[in-house]
Amino acid sequence: MKADNRIPRVEGAALCGALLLLAFVANCARAETGAEAWLRYAPLDKTAAQKYSALPASVVVLGGSPVLDSAKGELIRGVRGMLARTLREEKSLPPASAILLGTVFALQTAQPALLQNVNLHGDGFLLATAQSQGVEYLIVTSTSERGVLYGVFALLSKIARGESVSALHETQQPGAPIRWVDQWDNLDGRIERGYAGPSIFFENGAARANLTRAGEYARLLASIGINGCAINNVNANPHVLEDGFLPQLARVADVFRPWGVQLSISVDLSSPKVIGGLDTFDPADPRVAEWWRKKFDDLYRLIPDFAGVVVKADSEGRLGPATYGRTPADAANVIAHALAPHGGIVFYRAFVYNHHLDWRDPKNDRARAAYDNFHPLDGKFDDNVIIQIKYGPIDFQVREPVSPLFSGLEKTNEAIELQVTQEYTGQQRHLCFLPTMWKQVLDFEMHAGEHPTPVKDIVSGKTFRRPLGGFVGVVNVGMDANWLGHPLAMANLYAYGRLAWNPDLDSKTIAEEWTRLTFGNDPTVVRTIKFMLASSWTVYESYTGPLGAGTLTDILGSHFGPGVESSERNGWGQWHRADHDGIGMDRTASTGTGYVDQYRAPVAKMYESLNTTPDELLLFFHHVPYTYVLRSGKTVIQHVYDSHYAGAQLSAGFVNQWQTLKGRVDEQRYGEVLKRLEYQAGHAMVWRDAVCNWFFQISGIPDQLGRVGHYPGRIEAEAMHLQGYMPFDVVPRETASGGKAVECAPPAQKCSAAFRFDGAAGKYEIDIEYFDQNNGESKFRVLIGDKVVDEWFADDRLPTTKPGGDSATRRRIVGLALRSGDNIRIEGVPDGEEHAALDYVEIHASPE
Ligand code: GCU
Repeated sequence: MKADNRIPRVEGAALCGALLLLAFVANCARAETGAEAWLRYAPLDKTAAQKYSALPASVVVLGGSPVLDSAKGELIRGVRGMLARTLREEKSLPPASAILLGTVFALQTAQPALLQNVNLHGDGFLLATAQSQGVEYLIVTSTSERGVLYGVFALLSKIARGESVSALHETQQPGAPIRWVDQWDNLDGRIERGYAGPSIFFENGAARANLTRAGEYARLLASIGINGCAINNVNANPHVLEDGFLPQLARVADVFRPWGVQLSISVDLSSPKVIGGLDTFDPADPRVAEWWRKKFDDLYRLIPDFAGVVVKADSEGRLGPATYGRTPADAANVIAHALAPHGGIVFYRAFVYNHHLDWRDPKNDRARAAYDNFHPLDGKFDDNVIIQIKYGPIDFQVREPVSPLFSGLEKTNEAIELQVTQEYTGQQRHLCFLPTMWKQVLDFEMHAGEHPTPVKDIVSGKTFRRPLGGFVGVVNVGMDANWLGHPLAMANLYAYGRLAWNPDLDSKTIAEEWTRLTFGNDPTVVRTIKFMLASSWTVYESYTGPLGAGTLTDILGSHFGPGVESSERNGWGQWHRADHDGIGMDRTASTGTGYVDQYRAPVAKMYESLNTTPDELLLFFHHVPYTYVLRSGKTVIQHVYDSHYAGAQLSAGFVNQWQTLKGRVDEQRYGEVLKRLEYQAGHAMVWRDAVCNWFFQISGIPDQLGRVGHYPGRIEAEAMHLQGYMPFDVVPRETASGGKAVECAPPAQKCSAAFRFDGAAGKYEIDIEYFDQNNGESKFRVLIGDKVVDEWFADDRLPTTKPGGDSATRRRIVGLALRSGDNIRIEGVPDGEEHAALDYVEIHASPE
């Protein structure tokens, strides 16, 4: 931890203690950046701390290694932080009570009587109190040193959450050997689908000079049981394997090692040709095999614990074995052979598909691709190859059925790929706790055998008795102090690790654990955040991707704001096939693409029929008219309208819920979360209006409740009295109210849009809908008469250079006293390419 982060914390803690005494404040609000994530080790109040008064005063580590040193250091740090006690370090077993850290072997060698009948393997650990010669010890042990470290984190987590640690006897065994994260970092420091600043690993084509944060990341990962990390983009730069680059990788491995996190990289299959000087990368060419062999021999000389590689090939423009008419098995195995002598593994991604599909052919279906490509190769992959399968057959959408490939490989290792970075789920600007969805995926019964065969058992290797298998999470933390941008988004990373460790855990239990560790044990805080997290995925889904149609976002660009039509009439195959009469992809075997037949019979049967397909996946499997009646009794079109209105309202509710926590969580994180939730509430309205208007236009069916197209209190900017501002058409039109906005384009340097308020005198809130692009920082002012009531800069870094669904942003001014006849004026000062564009103003009476 950097000193500059630590110093204010300690001061804050002291101040907090004083305030506690003086004012009985339940949870003191010291400023926190979020850098400590769930490893804050915040001081426990006196009553809570008393529970641990019997905790031994010393620690003994049996054995020595960087991982055991981390375990000891962490224990001392955690106990000091939470209980204000400094554990004494003993060199050997003291005659007095102590905390013992060490492998089973080391403990049994030192004191054979201490551990009997231990049933542990791999990274599993035991936390136990044991007596020897009248002395009580608290033991943290495992067969691996890494497991000892995991045990220490588990012990500290219990203390932080107020759980008892007396009379402990708890064994935890990870559910799967593979518990990895992938980072999609480019060597230049940018991150593909990263939303929290630049890379913690790379800058300007090399590993960062200062890798402190990479080490801190490894610590966070270790605390949730993650044991491997691939640090570069799956769209891999071949230079990562150049001889000159390998020492850079070794530096990262060095900061990972003390935390038991093994380094991995993504590699480009054409490397033997692009950087290796060969005239081919054909996996069947012996020269290519030799090149990979030598490359990994060299790499392992520098990084003896190198974990292996990730391969994306024949996908989205990446070269692959198809160039030479070879299969993914040929490609995976040539690399696997080279890694095998060193114990390395290959993750070959099943995300192989043709993105030039002919959209006119109703039988074409991207969802079929992974199964079509990999099922015929079952049994052809080496034992150190793992097929890495995205949870759904398309691409990290807000809701998809599970990939049929999970039950399509019986003689091949598998890992499930989940996405912590919220590419299609709000990019950490919207709250979206994904474990709720992941649990549905992991628990889904695939009917792949006589006994239950949920996805979690297949990927862990249990179902088909595979030697390897598990979890890969795409995370993409960045240099932002709080790692993922949105303080609450870290719940996804925490939960990912916890589920990879134990997929049987309940998502609400995990949400509670995370909240306690991240924000403390105040019951109001815990209850509120837990509730917000638990509902957030379905809330996000309700205004972005109805009934399994896929996320209705701009799939050709940012994947962020609404872009309903962007998925149609192109080769990418993310079609929802909405036309004037209906919507949905017919994937049935009888009349559609035949995708449903990739599932085992009972699952296929369920999805084949309209009657048994769950509503939430209806449009994934069937094309239906807008008037089709759902189980809820609503038509599809009315569901689209209703869910979007409900979703926007529930998003606004998150703001209110969070505001009840003011003073109960530290000001800094309180403010950061509030800002993101307010943004989300505004953007959910943008989504609502865009999607509802688009469907109204195409279906011609009005909203039964008369909301779509009617916006009480809304004044379009183009209808205001404009000075300098000029109206223009926004594309696509549904991403601005009425399809139009106004902009203050050069040579204008300052523009204004004004209107007269004709309502009754009273208190109002005013929403200003404007466009915040990332190519300028326009300034806005709002005046009532001559009085400035608000001013701000449009300085967010939203993912666009244009006015539209990605940049549409709401500014809310609350509690404004207005009288009839007031002149309301918005002034915009453009900056750079950003023309202070304005969409509309909405005025509503203040809530009582
Ligand atoms: C998505 C994502 C890409 C990424 C790809 C992958 O399509 O948008 O940025 O490269 O997935 O998983 O390979």
